[in-house]
Amino acid sequence: MSQSEALFLGLETSCDETAAAVFTEEPRILSNVVASQTELHARFGGVVPEVAARAHLQRLLPVIDEALRQASVSLHDLSAVAVHYTPGLIGALLVGVTAAKTLALALGVPLLGVNHVHGHIYACRLAAGRDIFPCVGLVVSGGHTLLFDCRSSVDYHLLGGTLDDAAGEAFDKVAALLGLGFPGGPAVEREAALGDPHAYQFPRSFLKELRLDFSFSGLKTAVLYALGGQNATRPAPPPPGPERANLAASFQQAVVDVLVEKSRQALVKTGYRCLAVGGGVAANRALRAALATMAQRAGAELVIPPMSLCTDNAAMAAMAVERWKRGDYSSLDLDAQPTLSL
Ligand code: KG4
Ligand code: ZN
Repeated sequence: MSQSEALFLGLETSCDETAAAVFTEEPRILSNVVASQTELHARFGGVVPEVAARAHLQRLLPVIDEALRQASVSLHDLSAVAVHYTPGLIGALLVGVTAAKTLALALGVPLLGVNHVHGHIYACRLAAGRDIFPCVGLVVSGGHTLLFDCRSSVDYHLLGGTLDDAAGEAFDKVAALLGLGFPGGPAVEREAALGDPHAYQFPRSFLKELRLDFSFSGLKTAVLYALGGQNATRPAPPPPGPERANLAASFQQAVVDVLVEKSRQALVKTGYRCLAVGGGVAANRALRAALATMAQRAGAELVIPPMSLCTDNAAMAAMAVERWKRGDYSSLDLDAQPTLSL
């Protein structure tokens, strides 16, 4: 790191990961610390907002200390503080936003509020280590399924999104139906590896339509009916065996088919030659493989970050560096905003 290079602290508390990262203006990541709360929420089968907010309060300062320690810098070396202020759970977001505002005020440095969903795409730029724009951005997480036209590193336009459940939410709900536990994505992926993806023909919403929207709630209901019969409400989870594996594999295949086809349509619509994918669902190996095949056929580059940058983290707030270079700072009355303003 050159002596003159500016240093930044990024904070993330939008959902159930308490995270802090230090990065340079290059941007280069010097530390990326994440304290996961998965074990706190597992017994509830989902993230409990109040539990998440309280855990952020307890963990954020130690996590910041650790991020600074790993980067071998002190608070007084920082040129600005960045924070994901939207979207997310209000109580959770407030912890990060309040900490960032306090630090910026106390240190006399600019505050930079960053959109968490945009950050998931910017994580691809970080992973690539070079400019990847313009590109199509696909964000697939527990809370979001969105496609963006990313014209530059800071200029993202929404192309479409889910009308109901997010892809990760569908994985989590189907995992609960199949008795596979929380978080559902990795459990469904493991189960799907044992099954036949063509055993059930589950619905693929809007697949053949030229629109860049998603809907996963009908798919989840189709799995419910396949398991418990028409109009089932709360069937008992199936025992381990071929039927459970086939349900998981066929469900996963339906999600993958839709995500891949809509990404392909977005590449055609924009004419871009790069697809950047972020969010926890991007960890799914079946999805990665199918996206890679599609991108190769479409003559496009596929950028998917390593897991540490795919799931929620604070390094992806490095998008703030681009804003800092333009002098585009946030004011100290920046507020946490739970719903997405695109
Ligand atoms: O981005 P993320 O860590 O948190 C946010 O929602 O912002 O994404 C978490 C989601 C969960 O719904 C989880 O089930 C899903 O990503 N997920 C997966 C896999 N790993 C995590 N979904 C499918 N396959 C996976 N291997
Ligand atoms: Zn996220």
